[in-house]
Formats: sequence, structure tokens, C-alpha cells
Amino acid sequence: MNQKRPGFGTRIGFELAAAGSAVGLGNLWGFPYKTSANGGAAYLFVYLACILLVGAVAMLAEFTIGRRSQANTVSAYKAVSPRLGWLGLLVVVIPAMIMCYYLVLGGYTVKYALGSFVGNAGNYGPFAGNIGDVILHTVVFALPAAAIVIAGVRNGIEKAAKLLLPTMLMILIVISCVSLLLGEGVKEGLAFYLQPDFSKLSGAGILSAMGQAFFSLSLGCGAMITYGSYSGKTVDLAHSTVVVCLLDGLLTFLSGLAIFPALFHYAAVSGESLSALGMGGAGLMFITLPMVFAGLGTVGQIISLLFFTMTAIAALTSIISILEVVTQFIIQRHKVARTRAVSIVVLVCLALSVPVGISLGLDVNGGSSALKLFGRNLLELLDGVTNTLLMPLGALGACLAVGWKLPKSERFSGFVGVMLRIVTPALIVVIFLFGAADMVFPAADGVRAFSGDGFGILLTAAGIVVLTILAYFLWLKNRDTGSNRDEAAANRARDEAFRAGLRRGWQRPE
Ligand code: PHE
Repeated sequence: MNQKRPGFGTRIGFELAAAGSAVGLGNLWGFPYKTSANGGAAYLFVYLACILLVGAVAMLAEFTIGRRSQANTVSAYKAVSPRLGWLGLLVVVIPAMIMCYYLVLGGYTVKYALGSFVGNAGNYGPFAGNIGDVILHTVVFALPAAAIVIAGVRNGIEKAAKLLLPTMLMILIVISCVSLLLGEGVKEGLAFYLQPDFSKLSGAGILSAMGQAFFSLSLGCGAMITYGSYSGKTVDLAHSTVVVCLLDGLLTFLSGLAIFPALFHYAAVSGESLSALGMGGAGLMFITLPMVFAGLGTVGQIISLLFFTMTAIAALTSIISILEVVTQFIIQRHKVARTRAVSIVVLVCLALSVPVGISLGLDVNGGSSALKLFGRNLLELLDGVTNTLLMPLGALGACLAVGWKLPKSERFSGFVGVMLRIVTPALIVVIFLFGAADMVFPAADGVRAFSGDGFGILLTAAGIVVLTILAYFLWLKNRDTGSNRDEAAANRARDEAFRAGLRRGWQRPE
């Protein structure tokens, strides 16, 4: 029996958990509006190609780093090379930053899901501006995430993934079917989504699709290293990588299939133009879709409920992976119990998410300059710093570490080896440089043209990297940063002490 082995109990549990991390707001919120902004089908094809060719390679690298060390990200990178420990700390800092804005967005999805119950998903502006309401929903979103992670990898994360991923898939299939049956406008929606017109795709669009693939696969931020560390010794990581990438690609594909026909149908019936509906902007999910659903009567109300519930679930299975990266590190480095580690991380990130929520609300309601940095609201700032700059760095580090630093006997050879050592890192560097350039020099045709002070954002990212490296050399370099096995042993010791305490308690009355 391997009951004592800390981590996932089954291969499928590991794969579903990783897929749960991957499938999130990136697929359901980011992908559809970016696809619209980049001319439809061509974007989809580039995105899927990126997932299979670039994303899968980086994912395999991250799984490998985690599995061979069976430890938190800092110990895992140290195990690859003692000089790489700082990279491990960087991929603890990145998810902590992501958490501060992902919690807020998760709160929005909860609000829209609950709102759909009473027939009105939500009004973006007024909700965003009501900070009390935003905080309340953020907390409602954070609580189940905390509970799942406190329950542990096998009893919490794995069980949740086994239940929630198939649920999401089923809901998405149902919505897609309904959407395809709406009649008028559906054909045009399908043509837009599935008939590629590569002339509409700019260089910026291609690079945006690559960046989107990375974010969507949760790469470069420790999540896949951490989950990899809990995968069993016997799991075939290449196989799991393919399964996770296929699931992520499938759900992304279905989200477009659910959204575009409905959108085009609504435009045809209401007579509004698609651009007036704002289908190519970040408001697609929180402004346009509620309108589209409301226009569909009772069916629309049910779809709205299903759609936003599914989105909240997707955000939940992603945030638990982000939370687990930081939790695992704190448990193992500071030798504290899981409940305490999760509580600390969630409370701190919730507190930090308050200014993020306020900043977004102010921006949405008239662009006050309060709580903005470099011309961006805090959510955009954190999103820009992590997605565009730090996550590509993290993924690059993983590929190079596995490609070049593993002992010769463990290195990948053949096609995967070449991809890991040269092709994927080169592509990531291009994505990174493009993203940075796009920030500093807002491109004329740039999809993500940053209107704010991109240089400031770049400096912020650089500052975070420098501080992380400094912190690592000051506090971690020569310290034991623990492993999954230490964590399991500490748990057993705690249980034992607890039982001994109980026994003493029982004996005392005599
Ligand atoms: N992949 C998730 C999404 O698509 C986001 C995420 C990023 C999750 C990083 C974990 C780590 O929304």
C-alpha cells in the first residue's frame, strides 16, 4: 500500500487537478474576447498549435522538476541545481501576486452566478463600484478554495477536481448545444469562429495567442511544479501532459462554441452591431454576455445560471492550484500545519485584494486616478506584470533548467529534447520581448496596446525579480526548505501527539 505517500492518490486525479488548474478565467473570459479582437478562427488555430507545441513542452518540464524532487518549488529548483533556488522562490511570489487579483475576479463570477438565480446576472459598473459587495463576494469565493486546500491534496484538491472538472465539461457541452440551436445568426457565428482567415491575424495576434496559451496552461508560476511533486513515481508524465493539454484545449474550444453562436444570434435578432456589443473587449463576459442571455428569455436565464456557475467553478479549481503553491512552500519551509498555512496565505491575499477591487471599481466607474499606478488600475498592473513578464520568465527558467541542467542520465533526448533546449525557450523569449516592447511602445496594431506607462510596469517586474533574488540569498540559500515527505512525517507526528494527548486525557480521571 502506498497510503503513506503524500500526494495524489491516482493518475487520473493528478491529471484532472492539473486540468482544473489550467481551465479557468483564461479560457472562459480571456480567450473569447481575444479571439474576437484577433479576427476569429485563425486565432483559435494558432492558440491550439501553441498549446500542443510550446505549452506542452514547458508543462512537461515543470512536471518533471516537481516529480523528481517531490518537494516545494524552492527545494525542487535547488534539487536541479543549487544555484537555481531563487527561481523556485520567484514561482512562489508570482502565484501570490496572481492570487490578489484572481480572488477579485472569482468574486465577480460568484456575484454573476448568484445573480443569475434571481434573474439578473449583474450590472458591471454599479457592482464594481460597490466595494462592500465586491469584498463580500470575494470572501465567498475564497472560503471554499481555502476549505479545499486545507482538506489536503488527496482529500481536498483531488476530490474536488474529480467532481468539478467533469461537471464543467458537461455544462459547457449543454450550453454549446443550446447555443448551436438558436437559429438566426448561428451560421455566421460558426463561420467567424471556425473558418480561418489568416489575413486577419497580425503578428501581435500570433504573439497574443502564445501568451494566452501560457497563461491558460498555468505555466511559469509553480502550479505545475507543485502538482507534479504530488504525482506518483510511476505516472508517465508525457502522457499526463498530453491529457492535460487536450482537456484544456477542448474546454477552450467549447467555450468559443458556446459563446460565438449566441453572440451572433443576439446581434442578428436585436439588430445591434457586433462591435457595438463590445465583443472584442474585456467586458465581453461581464457586460455583453449578461445582455445576450437576458435577450434569450427563460432559456437565457437558465443558460446564464449554468454559464456563470461553471465560470465560478473554473476559477475555483484554478485558484486552489495557485493557493497550493504558496501553501506547500510555507508548510515545508516553516514546518507549520496546513490549516495555519492556508489561513495565513488566504487572509493576507484577501487583504491585498481589497485595494485591487477598489482600484478596478474606481476605474470602471469613470477612471478616477486614485489607486492607479503607471496609469493602470491595480488589477491590470498585476495582470500585466505576471502574465506578460513574470510567467514567461518562469516558464523559460523551467525549460532551460530541464533542458540543460539535469544530470545527463535524466535529460530528454530526441524531439522533446530539442524543443526543451532550443525551440521553446526561443519562442518564449520572443513572447517576452514582444510583451515588454508592447508595453513600452504601445503598438499601432497591438492587441494589448498598453496605454499606461509601460516602462513603469517593466520596472515593477524587474524590481520584484531583484527583491526575490535578494530575499532568497538572505533567507533561504543555506536553509533547509523541506519536502513533501517531511510534511507527511510532521503530520504523522502531530497526529500521534494528538492521540497521545487524548490517551492522557482519558487516563487522568482515574
Ligand atoms: N490557467 C488559469 C486560467 O486559465 C490561470 C492560472 C494561472 C491558474 C496560473 C494557475 C496558475 O485562468
